[in-house]
Amino acid sequence: MSLKVEPSGQACGARITGVDLAAPLDPDTISEIRVTWLKHRVIAFPDQGAMDDDALERFTIAMGGFGKDPFFAPIEGRNNIAAILREADETTPLFAENWHTDWSFLEKPPSGTCLLSIDIPPTGGDTLFANQIAAFAALSEERKDYLRSLTAIHSARGAYSKNGFYGEKDEGRSMAIRPSDDALATQPHPLVQRHPETGEEALFSCAGYIVGIDGMSDEEAGPLLMELLAWQGRDEFVYRHKWEPDMLVMWDNRSVLHKATGGYEGHRRELHRTTIAAAA
Ligand code: SIN
Repeated sequence: MSLKVEPSGQACGARITGVDLAAPLDPDTISEIRVTWLKHRVIAFPDQGAMDDDALERFTIAMGGFGKDPFFAPIEGRNNIAAILREADETTPLFAENWHTDWSFLEKPPSGTCLLSIDIPPTGGDTLFANQIAAFAALSEERKDYLRSLTAIHSARGAYSKNGFYGEKDEGRSMAIRPSDDALATQPHPLVQRHPETGEEALFSCAGYIVGIDGMSDEEAGPLLMELLAWQGRDEFVYRHKWEPDMLVMWDNRSVLHKATGGYEGHRRELHRTTIAAAA
C-alpha cells in the first residue's frame, strides 16, 4: 500500500491518504505510518468513514498497544476508549483548553494519543499542537544547558483531584471524568527529554501538569514555568488542526503539547480517544 503524505506546512502535522484504517494493516504499512508519525508528530487520516471502535482499537494496538487512562470512565462496552464529548447545550468550561501532554504525571506517560471524529461541529473545535522539539531547538545553548539540569515535578492534582478543575464542583459536564485522590500523587521527570525513538531533545510537558521543579521554591519555579509555557506555545511552534467528519488523528506526546479550542457553541462535538502505551 502506498501512502500519500501532505505536510501541513506549519510547525508539525501531516495528512495521510491512500490507506483504509477500517481494514487490518500489513506490517509494512504499520511501519510506514509510524515513521511518518515520528517525522511529522501529528498525522491526520481523512475519509475514514468505515472506521469504527473495533478499528480504532486495532489501530491503537498496531501503533504500540493501549496506554493507561486514569480519571476517565471508558465508553460502554470498551475498556480502552474514552469519549471527548461536549453536548450542544453544555455550559461547563471547555475540556482541555490549556496546553498539556497527556497523562505526563504517570511514571510511564503514553507515547501517543488517537482521536477519531464521531460528531464534528460545522465550525470551531480545532485542536492546537505545539512542537516541543522545535521549541527546545530554538533556545540559546546556555538556556538549553540550564533546562537540561532540571527535574520537573508532575501531578494531576490541579485537574483531577476532588478539589481540582474537573473535581466535585465541576457539575453538568457530559464527559465521564472520574476525579480521585490518586491525582494527589507526584511524579518526577527530566524537564528536557530525549525522544526514545528519534533521539531528538524536547521540552516535556508544561505548567499545569508540571507543578514544581525539584529543589526549587515555588516562588522561583512558578515564574520559570510560566515563562517557559509562553515560549512553548509561541505561534511559530504551533500547528492548528481542523477536524473533519470521518477523520482519525494520532499525535506523539513525546514531542508535542496540545490543547482544545472552542468556537462551536450550540453544536455537539464528540471524538473517541485511545492512548498508545509508552515505548518499551
Ligand atoms: C484532548 O486533550 O485529549 C482533547 C483535545 C480536543 O478536544 O481537541
